[in-house]
Amino acid sequence: MFKKIQKSREGIGGLLSALRPKRERGIKIEPKRSTVIGVFSCKGGVGKTTTVANVGMYLSERMKDNILAVDANLTAPNLNLHFGEFNPKVTIHDALADELPIQKAILEYHGLPVLLGSIAYGEQIHLVDLRGQLEPLKEKYKVILLDSAPGIGSEVVAAIKACDEIIIVTNPTIPTIASTLRTFRAAEQHKVPIIGIVVNMVRKEPFELPIGDVRKAMGWPILAVVPEDRKVRESTAAGVPVVRYFPKSPAAREFGKLGESLIGRITKG
Ligand SMILES: Nc1ncnc2c1ncn2[C@@H]1O[C@H](COP(=O)(O)OP(=O)(O)OP(=O)(O)O)[C@@H](O)[C@H]1O
Ligand SMILES: [Mg+2]
Repeated sequence: MFKKIQKSREGIGGLLSALRPKRERGIKIEPKRSTVIGVFSCKGGVGKTTTVANVGMYLSERMKDNILAVDANLTAPNLNLHFGEFNPKVTIHDALADELPIQKAILEYHGLPVLLGSIAYGEQIHLVDLRGQLEPLKEKYKVILLDSAPGIGSEVVAAIKACDEIIIVTNPTIPTIASTLRTFRAAEQHKVPIIGIVVNMVRKEPFELPIGDVRKAMGWPILAVVPEDRKVRESTAAGVPVVRYFPKSPAAREFGKLGESLIGRITKG
């Protein structure tokens, strides 16, 4: 069994090194009124929205209302569900449709300001200038945290372009990591610096890639290793992020550490 895993790891070695982007050098992070940090992953269901909800909640506990979480998954928004909201009364879609100034589309859950999406939005999402849309909000918040759609389609590209820096979420399995590497390529193409990786849903099963190998395959720092934790699913079902619902759970602690490291980064500018 172990031999089989070893062999498949060697087999994908070539694929991983071919896909691995070269480190972008010399990208400077310009001082901004807000820093827009996006959470991305080509693969669906890895925990992007969970990361945004929890890091957002943690930062709001530490930074008060200096943080805004935005659902930039415009075709299938679901950040709302992490706050127990099925039908937000105002949404980012209202602002994109010019029906509302974007500042008026912000709601608040457990003290965290959020810009949610409309699940009932039936129209096609055309190319959106998300960066331009967020501009009026940059004077109000220190950090804008963006939740992205999976894939690498036009709405994901619009979200990447709106970011000053990005975090990539993956799970410790070979197919997820291989597809996540495409997100690195897109970030590199649009010259958006990568802060690092969140490895989520770690079960420490023998078929998972060890964290050291994930780091080698990705070539960027690992910011957090979040365990698979049923308290996360329980919290999602309850509509309260786990950092608030079960703050002592292993996953909540790890999201908290990620939040602290972002605070350190933001404070250092
Ligand atoms: N560490 C974890 N332990 C247990 N369950 C988790 C963990 N992280 C996320 N989940 C659960 O996995 C599911 C998918 O998570 P989430 O919606 O955050 O993924 P996503 O990457 O945003 O998905 P999509 O690409 O569809 O937007 C959710 O039900 C969530 O509760
Ligand atoms: Mg999501």
